[in-house]
Amino acid sequence: MDVSEKALLKKEKKYCSWGDTVHYLEPPKFFERCEGSWLTDRKGAKYLDLQMWYSAASFGYANPRLGAALKKQIDKLPQLACQYLHGEKVELAEKIAKSMERIFGQKGRVHFNVGGSQAVEDSLKLVRNHTGKNLVFAFMGGYHGRTLGASAITSSYRYRRRYGHFSDKAHFVPYPYCFRCTYGKKYPDCGMYCVKQFEKLFETEYNGVWDSKAGVAEYGAFYVESIQGTGGYVIPPKEYFPALKKILVRHKILLVDDEIQMGFHRAGKLWALAQFDTRPDIVVFGKALTNGLNPLSGIWAREELIHPKAFPPGSTHSTFSSNTLGTAVGLEVMKLCEEIDYEKIVMQKGKQFLDRLKALKKRHPKVIGHVDGMGLALRMEICRPDGYTPDRELADRIFAEGMRGGIPTSRGKLGLVLDVGGYYKNVFTIAPAFDITEDEMDLAVELFEALFKRCAKGK
Ligand SMILES: Cc1ncc(COP(=O)(O)O)c(C=O)c1O
Repeated sequence: MDVSEKALLKKEKKYCSWGDTVHYLEPPKFFERCEGSWLTDRKGAKYLDLQMWYSAASFGYANPRLGAALKKQIDKLPQLACQYLHGEKVELAEKIAKSMERIFGQKGRVHFNVGGSQAVEDSLKLVRNHTGKNLVFAFMGGYHGRTLGASAITSSYRYRRRYGHFSDKAHFVPYPYCFRCTYGKKYPDCGMYCVKQFEKLFETEYNGVWDSKAGVAEYGAFYVESIQGTGGYVIPPKEYFPALKKILVRHKILLVDDEIQMGFHRAGKLWALAQFDTRPDIVVFGKALTNGLNPLSGIWAREELIHPKAFPPGSTHSTFSSNTLGTAVGLEVMKLCEEIDYEKIVMQKGKQFLDRLKALKKRHPKVIGHVDGMGLALRMEICRPDGYTPDRELADRIFAEGMRGGIPTSRGKLGLVLDVGGYYKNVFTIAPAFDITEDEMDLAVELFEALFKRCAKGK
């Protein structure tokens, strides 16, 4: 007989740290099964998932092909220390390196680790090793993880506050978040004012980043998410990254592209930065590489930065770095991406979903302030009736009610799994499974309508 949910919750309160989770709801919710776009709780109630584990399970829960690849590797080579080789590691590295050659026209190598933050740490070492510099630029609203190094380049002070002084904290630069422009400008009349402000930093040595006599920057790299993930699926204007890259090249600053959340077709292309015609020097990836099965992350870098003489064995190492189970699933994910035209599918489904969200906004202008999307990275800002002031409380209520479930729809009572992000925690960052159907999109809209009705009283 299974232990009851009540008994488990009692044990959780006593034995589980809350430090390793984000703990949005009290009590937290138990789930027992998952398939496709759906989670099922212990009572058999179903929840439509529109955030797919922050985009780690983009290829659908319990994807049979990826599950089979994992099971096959469990039977063949379930364990192996990373100083020995196995075929899947090498083949996966080849596929990722070749994708970079194809998409960005640059040769390089691939290096593995386990979680996204660890891969970010590895990339920081690579930057330091190549440039001799430990300072980097990063974006306001950016998120790169919660290890010490990753927290230092993540803008939110909340993640650092308890943990002492971060001497290597990034220099945070405003992101082109046009709906809430830091400079109060309006796109496109702004003439890319934000890029010009960044460029101004290099105008004189007195702006604190550039020695104009030596022609040397104090900063080794700029860490970017081409579409901000935790920051609220903010999509920049097309010309932003090409303009930024020119400034970086001129000042010999590396561009590190964090694809941990947007990589593997979330925004349409295999690598999201390719949507913006910009070439990275280093790419960091994780999450959907294994569709959330045995975790694996990694970095790719241009050959000059990462060849074995420049970045020798042991530069970084984890016992689990190129583990056999993760690399087997990662290889299958890459094969899937070669065989199925996800670029087309994701752009098509993204448009279908965004059209529905735009129509929903028209019907609820006093609840939704902004919707946008690229591929299946979609956003919805919950605002006060003025259409602009962030309404975090309402977003929280909608989120909590969705998780409570029991929402009447044309398909019976269902729940809705959402993720709340954004600078003001009022944005639903919508990351559906790539095989979401139009029926499921309609159901998502029904669920939003019902939740708005339930939560938005007095609006
Ligand atoms: C863009 C980005 N970078 C880094 C990370 C950190 O990855 P992990 O949670 O696997 O450490 C995340 C996780 O959400 C992310 O979205």
